[in-house]
Amino acid sequence: MHKIAVFASGSGSNFEAIVTACEKHQIDAEVVLMVCDKPQAKVVERAANHHVPAFAFSPKDYPSKADFEREIVTRLQEAGVELICLAGYMRIVGDTLLEAYGGRIINIHPALLPSFPGAHGIRDAFEYGVKVFGVTIHQVDATLDGGKIIAQRGFEYYGRDIDELEQKIHAVEHILYVETINKLLK
Ligand code: GAR
Repeated sequence: MHKIAVFASGSGSNFEAIVTACEKHQIDAEVVLMVCDKPQAKVVERAANHHVPAFAFSPKDYPSKADFEREIVTRLQEAGVELICLAGYMRIVGDTLLEAYGGRIINIHPALLPSFPGAHGIRDAFEYGVKVFGVTIHQVDATLDGGKIIAQRGFEYYGRDIDELEQKIHAVEHILYVETINKLLK
């Protein structure tokens, strides 16, 4: 059984989808660590509900990014993590993490990259007026949403309801992330 970590900063619906898939043996892996840079985020509660060990920290408690990333790397190594899945972790990964886990970190983004990178992919695509939306899973490097693309799934949407669109995107994310993790671990 593989050991994976999920990093998140917010609600954690992708975390929930990944953990649930592991629990149902749809992925041959266990989420051995959830890392969160916002101790009040809902994902922390979700991790507790699923008995997943969590490292929730405030970046401001550390002198620099390298300092909190060193602590993260120690915890990842102690837990024997093989693959890191960023799921709404709203932070650029720094050199310390990349040096330790480069090539083994993936991210999910709620748009068809390279269009609409950044923190507001859904809103940016909606406001631009595109009609094909989608989700990208890519390798993580030092750029913002810029690493090599691993998987993408798109769909047409002509509606005008951004909440409905967001729900559709999340539904695609949850399926595509589980499928992609499975493929990478095989
Ligand atoms: C997801 O839509 C994910 O694609 C996005 O944050 C959301 C987290 O939702 N990530 C990015 O925008 C990365 N640039 P969740 O907390 O419910 O999983």
